[in-house]
Amino acid sequence: MKKVLITGSSSGIGKAITEMFLEKNIPVLGIARQHQKFIHKSELYFPITADLSKIDDLPELTKDILKNHSDIDIFIGNAGFGDFKSIENFSTKQIQNFINLNLISHIVLCRFLVSHMKRYKNGDILFIGSESSLAGKKKATLYSAAKFGLRGFCQALRDEVGTSGVRVCLLNPGLVRTPFFESLNFEPGKLENSAIEPADIAKIIYNLLQTRNGTNIDEVNLSPLINSINFKNTP
Ligand SMILES: NC(=O)c1ccc[n+]([C@@H]2O[C@H](COP(=O)([O-])OP(=O)(O)OC[C@H]3O[C@@H](n4cnc5c(N)ncnc54)[C@H](OP(=O)(O)O)[C@@H]3O)[C@@H](O)[C@H]2O)c1
Repeated sequence: MKKVLITGSSSGIGKAITEMFLEKNIPVLGIARQHQKFIHKSELYFPITADLSKIDDLPELTKDILKNHSDIDIFIGNAGFGDFKSIENFSTKQIQNFINLNLISHIVLCRFLVSHMKRYKNGDILFIGSESSLAGKKKATLYSAAKFGLRGFCQALRDEVGTSGVRVCLLNPGLVRTPFFESLNFEPGKLENSAIEPADIAKIIYNLLQTRNGTNIDEVNLSPLINSINFKNTP
């Protein structure tokens, strides 16, 4: 493992993954909009400020990153946000922004990183999907559209790049205790076992990267031991 590029490094799952790699002395380039949420003093951490929903900026962004960091061999597509309501309550603009960040940004970044990894005949691409990659539920139409899309993208990409030494993995967590829920009207239940901890996802990622390059771990599904949701507006 030489260098990691991760999106959404400033919070939650991305922050935990970033901290874990830095602990192992593996350099990390982290993309987010608000790095003040997570300031790490390590000289191995390179924060990059970008709004990934601005799709037209991504080719230039990726080219600049690869020009200065040609040793990136791990890409983790993690950035995302949730918005859960009936489909008719989304404006067209909201639908575009949602799919831009939660699906298209991952595909566009990957498009440039794949050529780079194929040239070096080595690389790992991991995406944070969701239980919503596997089953659609009411009020999660956009979220499932993005996450199912990501799953299809991963399956096809895996088939396309395996012969070039590049592995592709999708992780599908259930509820994880992160700031993801700050803007939502629900959150994982208060019991410790009703949510996954971000640090456990970080550990899983590190462990699966230890496997011999000839083994591709296609998907990892994980869920909290107890299924419990707390609706914030419930008295
Ligand atoms: N929490 C859960 O229960 C759960 C379960 C399954 C899957 N997931 C998935 O896990 C991933 C991470 O979520 P999380 O729970 O860690 O949430 P989080 O704590 O809210 O973190 C989201 C990260 O994405 C970044 N981000 C959001 N919009 C961005 C934009 N326009 N441009 C660049 N970066 C942006 C945020 O950075 P800035 O705000 O600084 O830009 C932040 O670092 C998401 O893909 C989510 O769908 C979460």
